[in-house]
Amino acid sequence: MSLLIQGGRVVTAVDDYHADIFVEDETVSLIGRDLDVKADRTIDAAGRLVIPGGVDPHTHMDMPFGGTTSADDFETGTRAAAFGGTTTIVDFAIQTKGHSTLEGLEAWHEKAAGKAGIDYGFHMIVTDMEDDRLWEMRRLADEGVTSYKMFMAYPGVLYVDDGTLFRAMRKAGEDGTLVCMHAENGIVIDEIVKIALAEGKTAPKYHALTRPTRMEAEGVHRSIAIAEVAGVPVYIVHLSCADALEQVTLARDRGAQVFAETCPQYLFLDLSHYDHDDFEGAKYVMTPPLREKWNQEHLWRGLGFGDLQSISTDHCPFCFKDQKVLGIDDFSKIPNGGPGVENRMSLVYNGGVVGGRLSVNKFVELTSTAASKLFGLFPKKGTIAVGSDADIVVFNPDRRETISIDNPHTHHMRVDYNAYEGTEVQGVSEIVISRGRVVVEDNVWHGRAGGGNFLKRGLFGGPF
Ligand code: URP
Ligand code: ZN
Ligand code: ZN
Repeated sequence: MSLLIQGGRVVTAVDDYHADIFVEDETVSLIGRDLDVKADRTIDAAGRLVIPGGVDPHTHMDMPFGGTTSADDFETGTRAAAFGGTTTIVDFAIQTKGHSTLEGLEAWHEKAAGKAGIDYGFHMIVTDMEDDRLWEMRRLADEGVTSYKMFMAYPGVLYVDDGTLFRAMRKAGEDGTLVCMHAENGIVIDEIVKIALAEGKTAPKYHALTRPTRMEAEGVHRSIAIAEVAGVPVYIVHLSCADALEQVTLARDRGAQVFAETCPQYLFLDLSHYDHDDFEGAKYVMTPPLREKWNQEHLWRGLGFGDLQSISTDHCPFCFKDQKVLGIDDFSKIPNGGPGVENRMSLVYNGGVVGGRLSVNKFVELTSTAASKLFGLFPKKGTIAVGSDADIVVFNPDRRETISIDNPHTHHMRVDYNAYEGTEVQGVSEIVISRGRVVVEDNVWHGRAGGGNFLKRGLFGGPF
């Protein structure tokens, strides 16, 4: 099967030119002006950007959490991702406390195999790591799971203490892998939560008010310090505020191997979303919580200046009616997480490029290339080049859509609300190609459950 994508404006993290792209089977085989080739199918990309498929390095499909399971599984979640222009996700497998991480990996393979419609990799969430289990980490890396996530939050659930953190970090550093950190002081936060509940403060907004930015900044500072001593690069996930960003910037300035992502919810939504008398605010109960609006300009600056390398979604949807309601009388029981995997590319293009904050190259870097590099997928993913996987999006930079659960062009996620309801965006993924196959066109799904492959990722590639 061959495909000719004709006359588009090809944009990667570093290139911007008009050319044709010839795809044979799963890879890009030729790029040039007015290519004289015979293809099984020609796509007219005139007036469109032709960009690498999005890489979302932080999703939680089919994740047991907060007494329930995230609403998108690997079939519905990856399909929705594809509609939004994302062709690769890196999701999180979980080690059950006291059990082997390899069992956790096996369980996540079972969840994804035969379901994922786009390519996917796994990080491993480490929940305990005694000395006699450290050997498993090398095995995970051999299996293509070359990054771990550890939590300083959620005591009694996913939390690990600093000793565990250090042990796992040291081994991860020896193995040439990367550690992702959920950086928040969960122990102190749980105390603040207890006080709030004792005072009868049970509404969703108290989720945000009991998680001060200083406690995120402290977690960022501490995890970086431990990582420096352990000798491992660290990637701070879902960084939400200026306080935490300052810690990343300070560490990078002294030469520490620190990387960080933020997410659309922290760039486009804010604390005021909790200002509801009813339970509506539960839609935005995620961790870290939404912050005061002024933080957003700091995050944009971090993205523009390179202290934040990537924009992921932390897609972890829970239905408002059936799942968020678990915390109707107690905000601490609301399942933490929100939807977004489908809307990331349009939101970032609109807020970044149309909003004058990012170049179009930087848009590609933040939504695709940097994550590919950090997580051992480049140059197979994250760029358009001869030999790369043909994960390509034909992106209309002028088309506008209003994001809504009722707009069939913007909501395919299996969740009963959209966190960005009513947001008008300019810039829409129109044709989405995954390893040479058109999986989305004219808002119709042409992919198939099981069409996505598991990606064995490479080791951490060093600073870039
Ligand atoms: O609220 C969130 N972020 N839920 C998903 C789990 C996590 O901490 O990433
Ligand atoms: Zn987290
Ligand atoms: Zn997450």
